[in-house]
Amino acid sequence: MSAHHEEKIIKVSPERLYNLMNQKLQAAGLDQDQAEETAKHLTFADMSGIHSHGAVRVEYYAERINKGGITNQPNISFEQTGPSTGIFHGDNAQGHFVANKALVPAIGMAKESGVAVVGISKMGHSGTLSYYMRKIADANLVGIAMCQSDPMVVPFGGAENYFGTNPIAFCAPNNGDEPLIFDMATTVQAWGKILDARSKGIEIPDNWAVDQKGHPTTDPNQVNGLLPISGPKGYGLMMMVDILAGVLLGLPSGNEVSSMYHNLHEGRNLGQMFILIDPEKFVGIEPFKAQITNMMRNLTQIIPAPGFDRVQYPGQPGNEAYNRAKVEGVLIPESIINYLESDDIHFDNYEGMGAFAN
Ligand code: NAI
Repeated sequence: MSAHHEEKIIKVSPERLYNLMNQKLQAAGLDQDQAEETAKHLTFADMSGIHSHGAVRVEYYAERINKGGITNQPNISFEQTGPSTGIFHGDNAQGHFVANKALVPAIGMAKESGVAVVGISKMGHSGTLSYYMRKIADANLVGIAMCQSDPMVVPFGGAENYFGTNPIAFCAPNNGDEPLIFDMATTVQAWGKILDARSKGIEIPDNWAVDQKGHPTTDPNQVNGLLPISGPKGYGLMMMVDILAGVLLGLPSGNEVSSMYHNLHEGRNLGQMFILIDPEKFVGIEPFKAQITNMMRNLTQIIPAPGFDRVQYPGQPGNEAYNRAKVEGVLIPESIINYLESDDIHFDNYEGMGAFAN
């Protein structure tokens, strides 16, 4: 589903979007449990304004499912390896489904021992980490999540790609009904933003990406590698993610991590890491939540700098989009809805596509 032209955007209810995606995933061959959980996750992403990880991905998932690159009726299991540690074996089922299942033993373990360090071994793409963070905060726990992704990023000073856009997310419970969630890729910009510039025929800032030779480029068509956030610092963070979510679990790491658009008939063997902490074992949940609530309020009361309307707490844009979407519906390109409503499963568009193709 590429966006070369100006797309007409329409509003749909979250229920309708969910139903259409659930049907399409099942039509592609995914079993009901996995399809329902994936559709729930993708609906959340679009509602939260994280459109890069919502309905836009269904056609690609359908192609991978249809070609056998996702395990149906997977043999998933939790292997507890210590009082606060464990490995959740995902059997290369849909990542959204696997990571959501892994939260159950992780939350239970954190409540019991104060902390849970749970790695997920072998799963498909797990979407937006914010989805899991919301559930962790709802369980009154502090959470950190990280996952591996396609190797599309040059190490600081490099002209060849090595790590993925390896995201890191954090959440903390508070007394309001909006969770405090910070969730970011460790690259300056997501690939989707460069695609967007390409489709609009505009230049990109020179700190987003490099060309084939490793020169910073402002031409979105010349991009051959993404840049880490803040040079060596983002580079270090994405390495940390790869070690905690990959190496620690014995999974492929670095440039051996599988690519989204290669070998669609095979599982991706991706890894994820959840670290959950119970404030009850530290300051106590009530004082913790009160102080977080206070911090969020303080932040939003900071005097804005010239050029800014207001200061928001991290994650506020997503929370506001989510609450708005509940009432007003979700904004989705019409072409995506047309595809979801059609009888088409997929168009064999993604297999073998280069990471930096349209
Ligand atoms: P982003 O750049 O849109 O946002 C990063 C963070 O900054 C968010 O917490 C956001 O709420 C916050 N933020 C943005 N504007 C703000 C403002 N004006 N004031 C205060 N806070 C603000 O996120 P990015 O890096 O584009 O990542 C998007 C999503 O992609 C994430 O949900 C991430 O989990 C997901 N992802 C998933 C991957 C996977 O393989 N599963 C790979 C890479 C990213």
